Amino acid sequence: MSDMQKEIERRRTFAIISHPDAGKTTLTEKFLLYGGAIQLAGSVKGKAAARHAVSDWMELEKQRGISITSSVLQFEYEGFCINILDTPGHQDFSEDTYRTLMAADSAVMVIDGAKGIEPQTRKLFRICAMRHIPIFTFINKCDRDTRSPYDLLEELESEFGIGTYPMNWPIGSGSDFKGIYDRDEKKVLAYQDFHKGANRIHALECPIGETEAVTELIGQRLFDTLSEDVELLDGAGYEFDLAQVRRGALSPVYFGSALMNFGVEQFLESFLRLTTPPLPRETADDIVDPFEDHFSAFVFKIQANMNKAHRDRIAFMRICSGKFERNAEYFHVQGNKSLRLAQPQQMMAESREVVDEAYAGDIIGVFDPGIYSIGDTICDKSRKVCFEGIPTFAPEHFAMFERVDTMKRKQFETGIRQIAQEGAIQIFHEPNSGLESVIVGVVGTLQFDVLEYRLRTEYSTEVRRRDLPQEHVRWIVGDTDPSTLELTRDTRWVQDFKGNNLLLFTGEWLVAWTQKQNPGLELAEFSR
Ligand code: G4P
Repeated sequence: MSDMQKEIERRRTFAIISHPDAGKTTLTEKFLLYGGAIQLAGSVKGKAAARHAVSDWMELEKQRGISITSSVLQFEYEGFCINILDTPGHQDFSEDTYRTLMAADSAVMVIDGAKGIEPQTRKLFRICAMRHIPIFTFINKCDRDTRSPYDLLEELESEFGIGTYPMNWPIGSGSDFKGIYDRDEKKVLAYQDFHKGANRIHALECPIGETEAVTELIGQRLFDTLSEDVELLDGAGYEFDLAQVRRGALSPVYFGSALMNFGVEQFLESFLRLTTPPLPRETADDIVDPFEDHFSAFVFKIQANMNKAHRDRIAFMRICSGKFERNAEYFHVQGNKSLRLAQPQQMMAESREVVDEAYAGDIIGVFDPGIYSIGDTICDKSRKVCFEGIPTFAPEHFAMFERVDTMKRKQFETGIRQIAQEGAIQIFHEPNSGLESVIVGVVGTLQFDVLEYRLRTEYSTEVRRRDLPQEHVRWIVGDTDPSTLELTRDTRWVQDFKGNNLLLFTGEWLVAWTQKQNPGLELAEFSR
């Protein structure tokens, strides 16, 4: 194996997803702690104020005290080079989150044990399922009262239609939480007061066969319950099948407490063992193997204003194959141009650093003078490939935006176009109309505020916004002429900037109704 292949082999690139407050940040922080990237837990984020230290990129973000931007962290752990794609914690920013999943090889889903599946987890899961991304579930907050673990597994299976495999099992919960049982090793990891610290610690371990010692650790009552649970689990027909895990059809489930630092290291080790190095990626007409010599990457996220002094943009790319070298000449497929990537950066645990080389699985951020779009491919000149584009996800809120100052036409148009290019908003317009006013579609309504704010501060343009009642969008597939369709009065026909025709509906049921009224009409939820 060449040095390059060894580097790729040890890469693990995954996204961490959850509903806000389930504990994603806390878990990420513990990973960094075990990797030695930070010395003490609490340095990534304690309270909202500390969060800004890590991604102090947008003024608005500061004002709101939420994390709008998703960040990428790289750290080492026991020979692995780990890339974590963090996803915005606020539910309003899920379009970015969706895209981040396109750059990951697997996902860690953090679930609050008291709450179970919450709306944002549900949405994100659909995207993982669409791409068959392996999902590892961490059921968090076991130090608090949680729902029955059986119920939680049942919910995952019935809501998501996948199998689950409990890798460990909680012993008690809340004030009664006594630890977890490792099913593979058949031993109890006891939870004790000293876990409440912030440092790396190891749990007291005891094989389940040593009845007396285990009883002493967890008490007779919980020992009896655990024995029953173990018997039930072993006999319940949960089969572990790695191939199914890797297809995203079976989710290994782990219980623990991120805050109490309990079960985290076991989770990390097991997860790293079961996940794969970077996987092959499909191009329009081929498959690119990550271990091949040629460099290739695609842009999955564009971030504006990382440095307020300049109106700069950073394009984040996921390297899909080979080795990236700073200053080498590469090819931007969509722009049909050769280029050298200026100032490539990588996000380390707490800072941004210029990188000289990076490998398949890594994420780099490069300066974007306004040439990249989401989904673009950058590759070696000697082997030109073009990755499949990133789908456009259906926005759920729409508003009409108009300029207040009629003189500011150019700024308005440029601003709207540039911001749309970054991909956080989608713009539509009425057929055959200009850019006097546009219909903006977003996944979360906070993006409307971000848009207004950015048009005002970056493009000196005041806008008027009128929220629209439509909440569902479908792309019309094929060459149906929309003017011939039978539509209700509140169904709106609009076009995107590629000229695709779309319909906006006020209710989900109208989608089915419209299809029934117009036989042969084919509607799609995503646009390619
Ligand atoms: P998020 O990134 O998914 O939004 O969640 P985050 O880690 O910020 O955690 C949300 C809240 O839940 C935090 O409390 C955090 O301390 C708490 N938490 C996370 N994991 C656990 C756990 O295993 N057990 C318990 N009991 N709590 C947990 P907060 O008070 O909102 O914030 P902070 O002041 O602690 O930062």
